[in-house]
Amino acid sequence: MTQDEMKRAVASAARDYVAAHLPAGAILGVGTGSTANYFIDEIATIKERLGGAVASSEATRVRLESHGIRVLDLNDVEEMEIYVDGADEIDGGMAMIKGGGGALTREKIVAAVAKTFVCICDESKQVTTLGRFPLPVEVIPMARAQVARELGKLGGVAKLREGFITDNGNLILDVHGLTITQPVALETQIDGIVGVVTSGLFARRGADVLLLATARGVVSRTRAAL
Ligand code: 5RP
Repeated sequence: MTQDEMKRAVASAARDYVAAHLPAGAILGVGTGSTANYFIDEIATIKERLGGAVASSEATRVRLESHGIRVLDLNDVEEMEIYVDGADEIDGGMAMIKGGGGALTREKIVAAVAKTFVCICDESKQVTTLGRFPLPVEVIPMARAQVARELGKLGGVAKLREGFITDNGNLILDVHGLTITQPVALETQIDGIVGVVTSGLFARRGADVLLLATARGVVSRTRAAL
């Protein structure tokens, strides 16, 4: 199976998960990226079940609406049962690096509201230790250089993502060279740097369910089983 075929397979498995676990009329949170895009195409087939969706990016909002799926403002949503999103890396404790597509802040906000975070990815994203994928950090533009220096003190080399502005009007620093053995502590440290909006470390609120596409099919793991 190619990586693309695995993304399609896990998107289809996630559609089945939603059909089985989302109460009729409930709100679904939807992530961003190529795997999430396949998932959006899949849930178009069960859109009558959804009370609506909350999008984690403008790109996701546009794709959901192109399928006739109603997109809600998060401020109008009190409860969200399930959030489904991809990841750039996921470790054995269900902590993730996200933000390859630059949507990390909205993704983290929507994930914070959801009762269950379902991570969908292919097996190339599974790692023992997070950090080979450069860690995206969203920063307020005027703080870019200062935040880059602070990230350097943590052992990383921060590079500006050239020509990229987030949906929130900010910049992304991609931090290379980190070996993340304490993801919760590092997330707290980075998110506490003045000028940082959010880091792409999703450890304090990791995934609850992992649907992982492998060459032998899609396997599922839950945080409760760790
Ligand atoms: C976007 C993300 C994506 O979930 C992550 O980059 C994975 O993307 P893909 O499914 O295209 O591999 O965090 O900000």
